[in-house]
Amino acid sequence: MAKIAPSLLSADFADLKGEIRKVESGGADYLHLDVMDGIFVPNITFGAPVIKKIREVTELPFDVHLMIDRPERFIKDFVEAGADIITVHQEATIHLHRTIQEIKSYGIMAGVSLNPTTPLETLEYILEDIDLILIMTVNPGFGGQSFINQMDRKIKKIRKIIDQRNLDIILEVDGGVKLSNAKAILDWGVDLLVVGSDIFNAENIEQRVKEFKRL
Ligand code: DX5
Ligand code: ZN
Repeated sequence: MAKIAPSLLSADFADLKGEIRKVESGGADYLHLDVMDGIFVPNITFGAPVIKKIREVTELPFDVHLMIDRPERFIKDFVEAGADIITVHQEATIHLHRTIQEIKSYGIMAGVSLNPTTPLETLEYILEDIDLILIMTVNPGFGGQSFINQMDRKIKKIRKIIDQRNLDIILEVDGGVKLSNAKAILDWGVDLLVVGSDIFNAENIEQRVKEFKRL
């Protein structure tokens, strides 16, 4: 069964608790929380204090996607806020190895995300240390953008590497995932789909999560 991480970015921010209940009843596996700083990406969302409040209302694991410059400055804050996975961007941290070690030192899972044009080769010397790879299939910053088609090559290639080296890594894809293309993306060997607008803009959010889960 497909694993789904609804991204709260497209949810009704005035009713986060209500929105979370809907995706919970639909069978969501994680909550994907998009943190943006207006520097690494041209948009600002929310930070650790908001995540900490949401932590009080749900048991779903928190998949925290940090789209912030020099994320190493805030790892502890997000751990204390209740993150289960913290994913940083390869492009945003100079000492990636150190940042990953710090995340893992708190006993949670560490992920690395790559922008669409960042080559997979940048992960060559960190693969053994990470729990998750997040392939961006849009330029990060906004919900509702279109899936960049040539990312299929990248996804298939990293799937192959993970399998050949027998690595224990979750392969996650984020950006432009919709009911209409999700089946194909899963067939490329993706473990976890992030879905924002196609879930939260749906007429019936709970039903839409169920439809994704059935894929
Ligand atoms: C974009 C975020 C995504 C976003 C995806 O930068 O990282 O998680 O919410 O939204 P959709 O699914 O609408 O492309
Ligand atoms: Zn995201």
